[in-house]
Amino acid sequence: MKRIAVLVSGSGSNLQALIDAEHQNQLGRGKIVGVLSNKSDAYALTRAQQANIDTAIISHRDFPTRESFDQQMHQQLLDWNVDLVVLAGFMRILSSDFVSQWQGRMLNIHPSLLPHYKGMHTHQRVLNTGERFHGCTVHFVTAELDAGQAIVQAVLDVRQNDTAETLATRIHPLEHKIYPQAVQWFCNEDLTWHDNHAYLQNKPLQESLKVCYFD
Ligand code: GRF
Repeated sequence: MKRIAVLVSGSGSNLQALIDAEHQNQLGRGKIVGVLSNKSDAYALTRAQQANIDTAIISHRDFPTRESFDQQMHQQLLDWNVDLVVLAGFMRILSSDFVSQWQGRMLNIHPSLLPHYKGMHTHQRVLNTGERFHGCTVHFVTAELDAGQAIVQAVLDVRQNDTAETLATRIHPLEHKIYPQAVQWFCNEDLTWHDNHAYLQNKPLQESLKVCYFD
């Protein structure tokens, strides 16, 4: 069994997709054992409680430095005896120490086709540039923001009348498809990490990035 912790700050619709996937036996050998939030009012916490999952609130405001906050989170993850850390709308930048401790065992989902549009406000930036395609990416987390190895992407066409809001609304359901898929691969050891490289079914991920297309 792979013990999963999900880190959240907000609504937690991706957390819900993972909970639903687990209930439908679609996380392989994965089990969500804890949900950690840096915000006490995150709706994601309610979702976790409704699913009888242990929760922890660790507020970054209670710590003098990013490192001391991260250290407290690290301790909680150790207490839960976690095999995989899943970032799902977790809105804090992680220190390089924390990231290196979970290297190869921490995933994130980002609302763009990485390596394009790292960082914030991806939908508006995609519109401003006049891109034809947009989407979301599940990737391994490395110390550099949104720069780790991509695992799976969902792609959609940008429509002429799209706004940042409609793009967010169209992309969310795609996130809810590809994130549980990537977590299942990890939990079934289809997705592995050795010597700083990621592999899917024993092939280097760089050669086998999975892309799903939606119009
Ligand atoms: C998602 O758009 C995800 O791509 C980004 O944060 C958002 C989280 O949404 N990293 P939710 O809290 O899972 O609904």
